[in-house]
Amino acid sequence: MTQPDLSPRGDFWNRHRGLYPALERFTYLNNASIQPLPTPVAEALHSFVRTATEGDPDTLYDSGVPGRFRTTVARWLGCSEGDLALVTSTSDGLIKAVNSVPWAPGDEVVLPHNEFPSVVYPFRMAQAAGASVRFAGRPGRPVTEEELLAALSPKTRAVAFSWVSFSTGYKMDLLELPRALKARGVEFVFVDGMQGAGVWDPALSRTDVDFFSFQAVKWVAGPGGIGTLYVRPDLWRSLQNPAFSWYSVPACDDLSLLTDTGLEPFDSARRWDGGTPPWIQMVGVQAYLDLLEPAGPAGIAARMNFLLDTLRGRLEAAGVKTLVPLDSPHRSSIALLEVPDAAVLHARLKAAGILTALRMGRVRVSPHVYNREEDFDRLVGILAERA
Ligand SMILES: Cc1ncc(COP(=O)(O)O)c(C=O)c1O
Repeated sequence: MTQPDLSPRGDFWNRHRGLYPALERFTYLNNASIQPLPTPVAEALHSFVRTATEGDPDTLYDSGVPGRFRTTVARWLGCSEGDLALVTSTSDGLIKAVNSVPWAPGDEVVLPHNEFPSVVYPFRMAQAAGASVRFAGRPGRPVTEEELLAALSPKTRAVAFSWVSFSTGYKMDLLELPRALKARGVEFVFVDGMQGAGVWDPALSRTDVDFFSFQAVKWVAGPGGIGTLYVRPDLWRSLQNPAFSWYSVPACDDLSLLTDTGLEPFDSARRWDGGTPPWIQMVGVQAYLDLLEPAGPAGIAARMNFLLDTLRGRLEAAGVKTLVPLDSPHRSSIALLEVPDAAVLHARLKAAGILTALRMGRVRVSPHVYNREEDFDRLVGILAERA
C-alpha cells in the first residue's frame, strides 16, 4: 500500500475530508462550536452499541481502553500518560483543579475578560474560601499576555485563561506566558485547552502550566463527555485530591483488590480520576485519534497553518479584516470577521449552506483540517455579494 501524502496539501487530507458525510450537505466552518463526526468514529460507536445490545456487553469494558486513550492523548498534548486524569468535560477538570488548591483569605486570582464561563465559575469555589477574582484586559477586545501580566498584584496566587479564546480567537503563548507568571510569583497557572487541543501542540511537559483541561468534542471529534485534565507532576503529592475514587487506586486495574480497603493512590494524575470513565466516548474519540495518527500533531498544525494562510489571502482580497489578524503569531483556528451587520451576514451564510457562528457581534469562522480552499471561496463569495 502506498503511503499517503501527509504534506499540508497532500492527498491524506482529501481522503480525510471524504470521511465526513455532513460536508456533502453544507460548508462547515463552525468547529469552535462542535465538530461533525467522521464515519470511522460513527462506526466505532455503532459497533459498541451493537455489542451492548446483541452481544456480551462485558467484553466491551476492556481494561486496556482507558490506558490506551490516555497514552494517545498524552502524545497529542506533549506530556506523559501519567500526567493525565480522565474527566467528563473541560469544566469537570477545572473544577477538580480549583478544588485541589487550599485557598486562603486574601488570595487573588486573575482572569482575562471575555472568557468562556468554564474558566470563570469554578473560581467561585475559591471565592467561597476567601479568594478574590480580578479581570485583566478590556471587554470585547483580545486580552494579551502583557495585559495579564500587568494585572498581577503581590497577592495574585493564580492565573487562569483559555489557551485559545472562544470569543476573540487569540492564542496565548503557552511557553512564555506561564514562565513569566511564575517568575512574577504566581503559584498556579490554570489553562482551558478546549479551543486549542487537537489543532495545536501545547507541548505541556515543556511549559510551566499546572493544570490544562479539555473535552474532546470540538477539535478532537467525539460524542462529547470525555476529556483529560493535565496535572503538573510535582503537584501530584502536594495537593489535595478532590476526586478520590476507586479509579484513584489500583483496584480499577486489578479486580482482586476490589475489597482491599488500604490501597494507596496512584503516584500519577490518575489519582484525580473520578470513577468509571465513559467507555463509549473513549472508544469514539480513540477512533478519531487513530484516524489522524499518521499526521500527528505536527502534521495537523501544518495543515491548519496552510488553511489559515489561504483564508487570510481570500479575506485580504475581499477587504475583510479579522479581530486577531491572520498574520499574527497569536492567530488560531478561530477567526472573528470584522463586518458590519454581522447577524445579517451570519443568517445569509446559513441560508447559503455555510455554517459559522455569531459571537460578540461578529461572525466567527472556525475551519478544521478537513476544510478546503473551495470552502473559503464560497464564504468570500457571500461576503462579496454584500458589497
Ligand atoms: C474555551 C471553552 N472552554 C470550555 C468550553 C466547554 O466547556 P465544557 O467542556 O465544560 O462543557 C467551551 C465551549 O464552547 C469553550 O469554548
